[in-house]
Amino acid sequence: MMWRPTATVAVGFCAASVCFGTLARADQANVSAGGVSALQAAGCCRFARAFQQVDWRQPETQRLFIAEAVAAERHFFAAPDVSFDAVTGMTYDGHGIDPQTGELKATGPHPGGVFTFSASSKEGIHLSLLALALQRSDSEIQPLIYTLNEALDVLEKKVSSLEAFDASHPGFGGFLPWFCSRGATNTTPGAAYSCRGLDQEAGPIVPTSGWVSEVPGLDNGQMAWATYAVARVLADRAALATGGDAVRIRNLADRWEQRLARMRSSAVPLFYAGQGRVRAVTVVQNMSQDAAGTPENAATGLAAPSYLDDAYEGELMVLFIDLLADWFGYAEDGIHERPLMWKRKQPNVVARNYTTRDGSTLTVQEGYWFSSHEQWKLMVLPYLDIPLVKQVFTNGEHVRLNDAIDHSVPGIFASSLAPPNVECGTFGGYCNAVGVQEVASQVVRWDQSISPYGAYPSILIDPAAGLAWYNIMLSLPHMQTQTGSIESSDIAGTSVAPILTWDTKATTVLAMLGGTGPLIGSLLKREDGQLLHRFQKVVGEMYAVAFEGKEAHGFGASAELPMPPSTLLPPHSHHPTSDFPSCGCDSTAASAYVLEAVAAASADVHV
Ligand SMILES: *[C@@H]1O[C@H](CO)[C@@H](O)[C@H](O)[C@H]1NC(C)=O
Ligand SMILES: *[C@@H]1O[C@H](CO)[C@@H](O)[C@H](O)[C@H]1NC(C)=O
Ligand SMILES: *[C@@H]1O[C@H](CO)[C@@H](O)[C@H](O)[C@H]1NC(C)=O
Repeated sequence: MMWRPTATVAVGFCAASVCFGTLARADQANVSAGGVSALQAAGCCRFARAFQQVDWRQPETQRLFIAEAVAAERHFFAAPDVSFDAVTGMTYDGHGIDPQTGELKATGPHPGGVFTFSASSKEGIHLSLLALALQRSDSEIQPLIYTLNEALDVLEKKVSSLEAFDASHPGFGGFLPWFCSRGATNTTPGAAYSCRGLDQEAGPIVPTSGWVSEVPGLDNGQMAWATYAVARVLADRAALATGGDAVRIRNLADRWEQRLARMRSSAVPLFYAGQGRVRAVTVVQNMSQDAAGTPENAATGLAAPSYLDDAYEGELMVLFIDLLADWFGYAEDGIHERPLMWKRKQPNVVARNYTTRDGSTLTVQEGYWFSSHEQWKLMVLPYLDIPLVKQVFTNGEHVRLNDAIDHSVPGIFASSLAPPNVECGTFGGYCNAVGVQEVASQVVRWDQSISPYGAYPSILIDPAAGLAWYNIMLSLPHMQTQTGSIESSDIAGTSVAPILTWDTKATTVLAMLGGTGPLIGSLLKREDGQLLHRFQKVVGEMYAVAFEGKEAHGFGASAELPMPPSTLLPPHSHHPTSDFPSCGCDSTAASAYVLEAVAAASADVHV
């Protein structure tokens, strides 16, 4: 989206005693040399303050900022033993940091140390980033996500782990329960066990103690679509590859295609309960029995609600089943069943009006809590290509940002672990019930902590405003580290949750890169024109029915979202004591550099 080739940006700039290196010419940027993240290359880790006086609507500002943000987050999402296991290639749920220094904390009591368990939702983000890294064409510039070698290496490890897990747990049909990322300490049948830490030898992945026979539908929908993207992008790379890499990529593409085929053949018997019902959690009766072809081996778990009939993240599994699954055992490829899933979902897409402070009315899709987490599907599939859906979600982001402005909150609510001084967030707790009460169906219980990834839906809709809001949150005290952004801050900016997780960090990166919507849209279209058409039809009609006649006068709100007022940041955010000792920056020099670089780029464009 944002990584079209731009004009030459070649400035070396010194201010105060600091010099920032020459930016590479954009279309020849050797991204693997880190050339586009000039601030960090010059030792400026706390780069958020350098972007406080900028014009976010300038494309060059966005480009510079995204380069810095992705480079910072790479210390997490591309770092073995930080966010994923160096041996198995599987994600960790998160990683603790030292609350005093901001440095990674590999061991220590919770929340210190590495959380060596994870779920398919985190695999979904990891795989999505890998797919985007591999689809990069040489003519585009984008910040480095993964080098080719990094991507191939982790995809090889991951696919080996998944193949071995599938062989030992055929009842899961190629899908994943919550799992121990490097094996468990002791798996005596019936006894509780814990996941191995980094101080123990890595073994094959196994379900976590609480998930030995259960598998969640929602998270696996996220992973299934990311697997589709990876398999198809690898196939494209394989077709073009020559020389030494060719055999390696072809081999890997085949193995991922088999993972995808496995999910396609087991999704219906495992998750589909008949009458349009898709299970939120499936209980596998006999793990030795192959999920494909044995629907009687799957039962509906006791989750509440029991079925994925929401119009939020759970929709991704419904769409995988509708568009890609094998309906073996059902007449005419499930033609009679598939509409039942959408019929069941229809009542749960609800239009709601929100009145802004200036008295205009915005019609949005009712949220559960209206936490940003609920918009995950926008990052995965090409929802925003459907004009009505795009308008509904644009309105929603107006509501989210207006709500923050009206309540003078320096950021956005999104389900996350909270800082120690916030009520819902005794460590080990999770602040899920956060959002915007006026447009939520549930009681919003907490409003004292915000998380950087709250901005990802806005970044997808309007990068200028979305990035500005993300940067406000990064600018709060102690929100930046050598490994990028932190989980959450209280709204007063006095305390942070010293944790790094995929959900709160890498979702935003995915949104900055435009998500996988455009990629998967093009893959669906190429594969079979009917698939993209069906996606647009089922989703489009569901929204049309829900919104017809319910639209307030101001339905067509501007595509430009509101910017955060500069007064939102508490004054002490600007004080050097609000930086971790391990993550500083000469802000004056860095700000001057950013302004200069943007001006140079604009001048170049106008010549
Ligand atoms: C980019 O940098 C890497 C590492 O410094 C180097 O190996 C590679 O040859 C460079 N590529 C180009 C196109 O300059
Ligand atoms: C579980 O399934 C396997 C493979 O089909 C079978 O051999 C075994 O007897 C089954 N176990 C039970 C308890 O039914
Ligand atoms: C929103 O308000 C308009 C009037 O401005 C009304 O026509 C519409 O039905 C309302 N929609 C909802 C969902 O209440």
